[in-house]
Amino acid sequence: MLTLYESQRRLTAFLLLLLTFCAYFTLVVSVKHENFKTCDQSGFCKRNRAYADTASSTSLWQAPYSLDASSVKFEQGILTGTVLKKLINSDETVRLPLTISFYESGTARVTLDEERRQKGDIVLRHDSKAKKQRYNEAEKWAIVGGTSLSSGAATSKGSEKGTTNVHYGPAGTFEAVIRHEPFGIDFKRDGVAQVKFNDKGFLNLEHWRPKVEKPAEDKKEGEEAVVAESSKEVTEDQSTWWDESFGGNTDSKPKGPESVALDISFPGYQHVFGVAEHAGPLSLKETRGGDGQYSDPYRLYNSDVFEYEMDSPMTLYGAIPFMQAQKKDSTVGVFWLNAAETWIDVTKSTSSANPLSLGILGSTTTNTHWISESGLLDVFVFLGPKPQDVITAYSELTGFTQLPQQFAIAYHQCRWNYVTDEDVRDVDRKMDKHRIPYDVIWLDIEYTEGKKYFTWDPMTFADPLGMEKQLDEHERKLVAIIDPHIKNEGNYHVVDELKSKDLAVHNKEGNIYEGWCWPGSSHWVDCFNPAAHSWWKSLFRYDKFKGTAKNTWIWNDMNEPSVFNGPETTMPKDNLHYGNWEHRDVHNINGMTFHNATYHAILARDKEEDKNNVRPFVLTRSFYSGSQRLGAMWTGDNQADWPHLEASIPMILSMGISGFPFAGADVGGFFGNPSKELLTRWYQAGAFYPFFRGHAHIDTRRREPYLAGEPYTQIITQALRLRYALLPAWYTAFHEAHTTGAPIIRPNYYVHPGDEKGFAIDDQLYVGSTGLLAKPVTTEGADGVDIYLADKEKYFDYFDYWMYEGPTTVKVAAPLDTIPLLMQGGHIIPRRDRPRRSSGLMRYDPFTLVIVLGHSGDANGTLYLDDGESFDYEEGAYIHRLFEYTSATATLMSRDLTPASSSPSKKTKEYLKSMEKVRVEKIIVVNVPESWNGKKEVEVSEELEGKSAGTRMAELEWHGKVEGRAAWAVVRDPGVLIGGGWRVGFA
Ligand SMILES: *[C@@H]1O[C@H](CO)[C@@H](O)[C@H](O)[C@H]1NC(C)=O
Ligand SMILES: *[C@@H]1O[C@H](CO)[C@@H](O)[C@H](O)[C@H]1NC(C)=O
Repeated sequence: MLTLYESQRRLTAFLLLLLTFCAYFTLVVSVKHENFKTCDQSGFCKRNRAYADTASSTSLWQAPYSLDASSVKFEQGILTGTVLKKLINSDETVRLPLTISFYESGTARVTLDEERRQKGDIVLRHDSKAKKQRYNEAEKWAIVGGTSLSSGAATSKGSEKGTTNVHYGPAGTFEAVIRHEPFGIDFKRDGVAQVKFNDKGFLNLEHWRPKVEKPAEDKKEGEEAVVAESSKEVTEDQSTWWDESFGGNTDSKPKGPESVALDISFPGYQHVFGVAEHAGPLSLKETRGGDGQYSDPYRLYNSDVFEYEMDSPMTLYGAIPFMQAQKKDSTVGVFWLNAAETWIDVTKSTSSANPLSLGILGSTTTNTHWISESGLLDVFVFLGPKPQDVITAYSELTGFTQLPQQFAIAYHQCRWNYVTDEDVRDVDRKMDKHRIPYDVIWLDIEYTEGKKYFTWDPMTFADPLGMEKQLDEHERKLVAIIDPHIKNEGNYHVVDELKSKDLAVHNKEGNIYEGWCWPGSSHWVDCFNPAAHSWWKSLFRYDKFKGTAKNTWIWNDMNEPSVFNGPETTMPKDNLHYGNWEHRDVHNINGMTFHNATYHAILARDKEEDKNNVRPFVLTRSFYSGSQRLGAMWTGDNQADWPHLEASIPMILSMGISGFPFAGADVGGFFGNPSKELLTRWYQAGAFYPFFRGHAHIDTRRREPYLAGEPYTQIITQALRLRYALLPAWYTAFHEAHTTGAPIIRPNYYVHPGDEKGFAIDDQLYVGSTGLLAKPVTTEGADGVDIYLADKEKYFDYFDYWMYEGPTTVKVAAPLDTIPLLMQGGHIIPRRDRPRRSSGLMRYDPFTLVIVLGHSGDANGTLYLDDGESFDYEEGAYIHRLFEYTSATATLMSRDLTPASSSPSKKTKEYLKSMEKVRVEKIIVVNVPESWNGKKEVEVSEELEGKSAGTRMAELEWHGKVEGRAAWAVVRDPGVLIGGGWRVGFA
């Protein structure tokens, strides 16, 4: 018999489930705020905000943390010591081991832990199985390099009393000034403080304590027990220390309060960016109220937020706790390595000018307050000074973006769902019939038999291999969805193995956790468990996942994880993972471990142990710092309306500066039916997303590009062709991201870090280092846009060479058939202009080089090229060229950027051999000098194996200035090879 409580609980769960399903299947409601916590409803966030308020408002406030000076040691780049936390109304202190590491890269890392006390001291609730330790494994999943210790870092005598100083970084220009009491750190560059820890005294590490059972009447349900301890002003709200309820779910907290929080200030910095993923402007807003500002902190707690709202600090599907601060000519950053729920308050203060210090103007300081529910305090500090320095240092730690296969950066056609294998074949044929290029077609959950992953519905997908074979005829691919929830149903081999091998996430009692998702009752594979990894790997083998072929790739969705009947649509925080870590400790990393398991499974699907020589493609919805190593992300379930199109640009720019640039938004909008104009504009914008996929909800009308009708289909096709023509430029940008961490699409501040006026601009973008500047139209009925040109440089319309000149804001016409796209002077852009059905068919196509001459008259650009699919590039099998145009001699040179090697690998030779006939078919020069008028020829000289191979003449066609357009010239068929050394003389 059910107890009353139990039956109520079930009823609630059922109602919730019903609600969630209604939410998913009706498209009328928007984000359910009441399903997600505000800071006020999140005990540890509320406590820490209250702590900050007390610290700020009381002049008597004394931060209770001090560094025990006698404990400080410095050895080989590491400073250690003990921070003492003085307890209120007691002579007791809690000992917090401090480690500050100084890395060769110039990055500093501050870690604060809590000393384990004697047995019996930490009393956990009841018979909890949770591991009795602060979570300290975030680094195991997120950090992959960049931690070699600095040999040059050294302590020095501080000028201030009561500090320990360490000089480090390039030529010792960085300094950490560690204040003993109250404990705090100023990070300086060239003697000026750039980043300050605990300047405001918000440092708070809630130490472990035994639960003192109070008489029952002391604490009634819902009442806030404010314990005023004797005469002191400080009161502590203990109402959420030991359990906390929200939306009908109660989180038992076996370890009690254990949050970590710190204020981090950026003196003189007006803007902060990062802490993806949020749907709001790139430059983060203030979060403690005020005109147009937010009243809640930015939240990071990976969640499946149904119909998420615009301009909001609410959490979304992924979390990257990495922030950059920007002032004129200086970028610095911090990375808060913590996997638990995290909130970040942002406030700004402007100091008034000091009348005594002549000429010094008041400056803005950005203050941030970071609050995490559990784990260590573990923060990395980057002192720049360039945006590139900060992102490279961060990427060395968390890994560089995967170099994807070329197909992965071409166009993807998706919908929930292509309903049969014949449907897929039909779409494939129709795209060809309409001459619309595409590389990949996707299958959402309905291809499975009853939402059981690793199966095919025999009624609708009877012949998956035949379907994949048809796609392969034009080098196209299939992506199939595989989610982490495993249907709990008899006679399903996957769930049987999951259970018998005990590889699923456990509930707080230590039994297999059960919740609801697409298949109904489900279990979740626990990818923190190495054994789950090996098992997951075995499931993808071609002989196990029958019906998949070499051109089948994978999409991981719902990996926050999304649990329809769970608290905030995810798992209970007191669930247990491998090693008995609570879900609360690892939540934000969970999605990445699943993505990673899939990545490795794909890598090994030929043979269990061997690494395939083909780069996996796996898309993920949930992510954390480090996910960039594994594939692409998209911004989840957006809507077919103009504000969502507009928001996609700052969201993807934000991913770019957060070290995970392989990002996109669903083109067309997932929920709802876009108008034809919106769909068309969305394709034009999507052509500038690093990940470019059209997708649609099951309840929407079909919207494959050929269905739009004219003129829309033609305009969409043009946008797709533009993406395909520029694939060499995109692929080169991906290679740059892969080797330096640089964003693929770049915001204004990143390209012009000295231009304060442009810091907040987030609706236009530069593509890699190509000088291409796009401003997609994101408003209805627009016939033009304003583009901000930050620098004193010439810019030219991509299509008709209309000339603009910065610094200024220019109007660019943008009727429906036009994408506002400019080329910045000084660049050389590689393209492939022949229209093909898929990118694979472009492998041996010739190139066009566009030389864009600006003020200096010089220009350069690079091209990176490899086979676009294998790991052979790791053994040198690639082409990497620098093209340089020098005005003084009027010559264009192609130089080799590959490292000189006396013995190229076999794979290098094979690759270069395969490319030996691929040539440059056209050189276009934009903004040619007037003196070229009448010129008819250029002189081409080629080098073969380092030796001159003679010269010959090629034809030049000159086009004079028309109206506001630049004069230009074209060399047709110069007869040079893309992989070879050569020069073209225009003099
Ligand atoms: C990814 O998988 C590899 C191989 O199993 C493992 O060594 C690594 O720790 C995993 N990383 C993450 C982030 O899950
Ligand atoms: C390319 O040109 C830019 C100026 O536009 C210059 O700063 C840069 O050094 C040049 N790069 C190379 C490799 O010549």
